[in-house]
Amino acid sequence: MNITIIGSGYVGLVTGTCFAELGNKVICVDNDAQKIRHLKTGHVPIYEPGLEDLIKKNVRKKRLFFNSDLKSAVKKAEVIFITVGTPAKGNGEADLTGIENVARNIAHCMTGYKLIVEKSTVPVETGEWVKRTIEIHNHKKHKFDVASNPEFLREGQAINDFMHPDRIVLGVESNKAKNILTSLYRPLKAPILITDIKSAELIKHASNSFLAAKISFINAVSEVCERVGADVTRVAQGMGMDKRINELFLDAGVGYGGSCFPKDIDAFVTISEKLGYDFGLLKEVREINLAQKHNFIKKIEDNLWIIKNKTIAVLGLAFKPNTDDIRSAPAIDIIKRLEAEGAKIKVYDPCAMPKAREVLKGIKFCKDPYDAARESDCLIIVTEWNEFKELDLVRMKKCLKRPLIIDGRNIYEPQQMKKLGYKYISMGRPKVL
Ligand code: UDX
Repeated sequence: MNITIIGSGYVGLVTGTCFAELGNKVICVDNDAQKIRHLKTGHVPIYEPGLEDLIKKNVRKKRLFFNSDLKSAVKKAEVIFITVGTPAKGNGEADLTGIENVARNIAHCMTGYKLIVEKSTVPVETGEWVKRTIEIHNHKKHKFDVASNPEFLREGQAINDFMHPDRIVLGVESNKAKNILTSLYRPLKAPILITDIKSAELIKHASNSFLAAKISFINAVSEVCERVGADVTRVAQGMGMDKRINELFLDAGVGYGGSCFPKDIDAFVTISEKLGYDFGLLKEVREINLAQKHNFIKKIEDNLWIIKNKTIAVLGLAFKPNTDDIRSAPAIDIIKRLEAEGAKIKVYDPCAMPKAREVLKGIKFCKDPYDAARESDCLIIVTEWNEFKELDLVRMKKCLKRPLIIDGRNIYEPQQMKKLGYKYISMGRPKVL
């Protein structure tokens, strides 16, 4: 199929490249001409394992193209995916300016039937607005359909998520749209759920909110565990053995971050409010997530007493492992708060330091975890990179001024840490001193 992807950000690039890999002819469009120039020369502006190689392969095979000319890209494609950003406005609402612009531009450039698919995460009823916008500007009255096909790609494993999805959600209004999209996705041999557009839009917001709720739930349970000396990892294990619950997204820690969960929950709360429903449950999910960062900082204070002029080594900046993304990363908030209290910060992250340099000034970026720990009063772990799980903790102890580790992701075994002579504090687990 001839496919055009409008918006060559994270979702657009992964989606476009994977469709090309499945044998389609794909044009990825972006209004950032410099980004397109870089992509044409094989430079990928985001870090996603495997993506650069897959892009190069499909460019070589002449299945994947990059262009900033929307008009020709719309003309050539029967199926057009909208994957532009929907950033949060100050009030938590999603800013849909990009979607409206694209819908209008598509209408102006249409030369025949087009299937326009919204893939960006959008509030329910956006599909209706896209349709109305195209109708207004589609002066030559070309036939078209609008569909919703939300993405469920996790950063760090997006290609695998695309190629092996748990499900594909198609919100459609016509048989033609349904047939085009089901044949496009057929090679993936994944379960396909066909539904109406509004339900498809809601599936995305409801799924991400539910996952965030799962994380906040276990974080709340971890608070209770700490008060009675129980172990939240064992509680989560026992809960997860129930198939109805399952063990995923039950890791207690400093809370969720990233470009999706915080933004999507804000947007879902706001759209529900607009529709006349107060989604109090989700507001609490948000509050618990915020509280986790405070709880973590309190552990640092409880163990260092005065923060001012203490040197704190921070391991991990990315909002989760295997990405360089620091959007809404707990580490950034935690560091800013510690800095405000007068701490000297030394950090190390395997991938996210270049991006963090743009937002964190006056802290020391280190060449490895041991360098960060050298002469520090304590070591804190904020992202659970595998590299940190495999540290030489005997060597690490010699680097630190005192053997104190405060672990926001529960990556070490408390008993083992005790044997090594550490004071080890983690999340929702009994203190082993
Ligand atoms: C998420 C959704 O999973 C994906 O389907 C959606 O389309 C985009 O948003 P992503 O933001 O890449 O993906 O990250 P994810 O792996 O879901 O993790 C989100 C956050 O939750 C991270 O900060 C992670 O550290 C945190 N998390 C996750 C926990 O704190 N505990 C857990 O048990 C799981």
